Amino acid sequence: PTIHRADYAPLAWTVARIDLHFALAPQATVVTSRLACVRNPDAAPGPIVLDGEELETLALTVDGLDPAPGTVRRTESRIEIDVADRDEVALEIVTRINPQANTALSGLYLSRGGYFTQCEAEGFRRITWFPDRPDVMARFTVTLEGDKAACPVLLSNGNLVEEGELPDGRHYARWEDPFPKPCYLFALVAADLVALERRELTASGREVLLQVWVEKGNLDRAGHAMESLVHAMRWDEETFGLELDLDRFMIVAVSDFNMGAMENKGLNIFNAKYVLAKPDTATDVDYEHIESVVAHEYFHNWTGNRVTCRDWFQLTLKEGLTVFRDQQFSADMLACAAGAEGGSSARAVKRIDDVRVLRSAQFPEDAGPMAHPIRPESYQEINNFYTATVYEKGAEVIRMLHTLLGPEGFRNGMDLYFSYHDGQAVTCDDFVNAMAEANGRDLDQFMRWYGQAGTPRLRAQGEWNGADGSYTLTLSQSTQPTPGQPDKLPLVIPVAVGLIGPDGADLPLQLEGEHQPGATTRVLELATETRQWRFTNLAAEPAPSLLRGFSAPVILELDEDDGRLAFRMAHDSDACNRWDAAQRYAERVLLQLAADAAAGRALKVPAPFIDAFGKLLRNELLDPAFRAQALALPGEAYLLERMEPADPAALRAAQLHVGAELGRVLAADWLALAESLVEPGEYRYHPADAGGRALVNLALRYLCAARVDAGVALAAARFDSATNMTDRFGALAALMHGAVPAAEAALAAFYRRYQNDTLVLDKWFALQAGAWRRDAAAAPVLAQVRELLADPAFSPSNPNKVYALLGSFFRANPGEFHLADGSGYEFWAEQVIALDAANPQVAARMARALENWRRFTPALQAAIRPQLERVLAADGLSPDVTEIVEKALAA
Ligand code: ARG
Ligand code: ZN
Repeated sequence: PTIHRADYAPLAWTVARIDLHFALAPQATVVTSRLACVRNPDAAPGPIVLDGEELETLALTVDGLDPAPGTVRRTESRIEIDVADRDEVALEIVTRINPQANTALSGLYLSRGGYFTQCEAEGFRRITWFPDRPDVMARFTVTLEGDKAACPVLLSNGNLVEEGELPDGRHYARWEDPFPKPCYLFALVAADLVALERRELTASGREVLLQVWVEKGNLDRAGHAMESLVHAMRWDEETFGLELDLDRFMIVAVSDFNMGAMENKGLNIFNAKYVLAKPDTATDVDYEHIESVVAHEYFHNWTGNRVTCRDWFQLTLKEGLTVFRDQQFSADMLACAAGAEGGSSARAVKRIDDVRVLRSAQFPEDAGPMAHPIRPESYQEINNFYTATVYEKGAEVIRMLHTLLGPEGFRNGMDLYFSYHDGQAVTCDDFVNAMAEANGRDLDQFMRWYGQAGTPRLRAQGEWNGADGSYTLTLSQSTQPTPGQPDKLPLVIPVAVGLIGPDGADLPLQLEGEHQPGATTRVLELATETRQWRFTNLAAEPAPSLLRGFSAPVILELDEDDGRLAFRMAHDSDACNRWDAAQRYAERVLLQLAADAAAGRALKVPAPFIDAFGKLLRNELLDPAFRAQALALPGEAYLLERMEPADPAALRAAQLHVGAELGRVLAADWLALAESLVEPGEYRYHPADAGGRALVNLALRYLCAARVDAGVALAAARFDSATNMTDRFGALAALMHGAVPAAEAALAAFYRRYQNDTLVLDKWFALQAGAWRRDAAAAPVLAQVRELLADPAFSPSNPNKVYALLGSFFRANPGEFHLADGSGYEFWAEQVIALDAANPQVAARMARALENWRRFTPALQAAIRPQLERVLAADGLSPDVTEIVEKALAA
């Protein structure tokens, strides 16, 4: 069934208080729920409505009595209770659930002997009958009762108010959450864990207890998460004046988890990979991810929990805003670590990361059958809408508001939003209205960003008039139709613009009608289909640098020849655009070579490209982290999106060739670079050091791609002598990338060293599933992936393992997945069907690997279609996978 945003109606009855009691047992947990239901004065009259899924109902009373005959209607998933003449009713409901059988990891489930919950979006209904929607905000008290030996730690939201012993080796704990909350923010943990603890004062001087709960052997990996949490607390106090509102804040790491992490009130539950880190097991990138995910979940306490969503269509209200907040936080952390001089480059490096994610994950989504606005109009399965569009494009929309209103205007809007809506469940309109009111600005047209799907194309044309020294810039916008949205309206697009003079320096910008030149970067607002701006007082023809800082989530179309791209690679003062110039040049070369490969022509990398690339590589004025970004070729997913038709084999041939040529021709530079960036003493995670390590690892990758002997030897030596995971994994990845003989031994050594470390083994799986074949005679990676499925360390019930092995193959290795004989697709169908029977959310993520199948060559499409049909025909297919595959086939 399809749910529509327009159908929203408030419930006739809501819940003011809920008192939950859990008698925990692996296969038969008994949940007793006492609900104080209250009539909603703002809604049409009707019955009390409760949701349920896979519940065994043992008892239900209304005000302590069996319900009167004919007043209760019950189906598998819904209970309706008629209540006359009263405005308050007490329900008591007893259900029995089986956490051990819960392989979907939604609701209450077991992981390595402990009990954990995941309730967003609709998991609470798998625990007990309840109106499972975010506009029902109740005060929770929770009593947990369980076996003391198996579960010495009993946690839930809020404050611990009581604990004690029970007969038969059992014990209990009682928790009270002072804040009303929707049930998707409920959580419990009952497991054998230990905590890293710290006490901090909030800005207003309240003492709070911070805890990071992990399995016993992992206490030495909890420190970075704790540091990150403290940084996030401070940042939100300083940036937005937002303080922690609880006496205790807990983070818990769990091994089996569908997503990244969850912001349950006061009890954040995390996929262990976003908590655990020590130098020997985590890379710099892992450290960065932990910092940003910890911050993201912490920031939700205000943007998501204190003010929550009225319904799930508003998901971007909390997710887009919170992603924007975590992006700003990470940029500030990097800038702060880089100090006064390096700050702006460090910020740009983070921005570039964000843009890469948007282009490689969100742009393809916006161009395919799953295209939806950041606020969708309909869905079949809400879990399918935790998307790059809702999250990442949602964050871009918030960023545009920040750009249009300025930091102060944005802060004022946030303050007003909280002053109006603290404690409420609201909509995206409420947020934008607060921004508009605080700034005295009409944002009605801006609101279109919430309703219109598809990536806008921004076409730019410049005209130089040498006679009067003026430069006229014409900007136009258009958006292609998306499923269900044939017609598109003009959006408000902030375009940050600079003009670069012939010497490479930015020119002060003076618009026609202004008396003197101003700043060198200015934000133009395009709100109509097309508009012109005339810059005057210019001595020579400038080179435009448009969309600086990637000021809007659009595809910029500007005709620039190779020379112009090389010029901007060398001079653009906006680091983001300088990187983008390199990406555009590389894209041009790669797509040309892919076309040559497809046509059976010889492949040749243009010398001017290698030259421009080499100049960046040798430029020691540029910070290593930036150079590592600028010298990394655009991602495969993004390139396939730009290729017509998408031909993964041809693209892979081009990528292999270009990488090897850049390695071979620039070998001396790469070697010099790798040797000059000497290791700072003992490993510490610090952005300044991380940039150097990333650049060295990239150098090794190019050298191995070209099989430069000295480079391969250096990679092998660094692998052997590494003192930390960043160096060890970087060297291993380079050796694998080159498919050199040393790779196999290194891979085996890596496995031996980490065979008992499940998180590190995920890297081992991912590396092999994502491998590039250099020798056409070698066995396809598919054979290796099949073999790895049988490895004792693999487990299909652990989402991280599935993402590492199958995700890395289906989603991150198109060159190997899209085999001409279709065997990759057969394997895909087999795996999606098998996964779906146990865990629909994980299966649906894997299913999405083929949603854009219409973009591929006719031969590949012909091989894909029967496999899509085979999945759709599978018995008992979940709504999750059904929605993805149906939409793909309908396109
Ligand atoms: N709210 C979580 C976050 O972004 C994500 C939870 C998603 N869960 C799900 N089953 N779709 O931090
Ligand atoms: Zn979130």
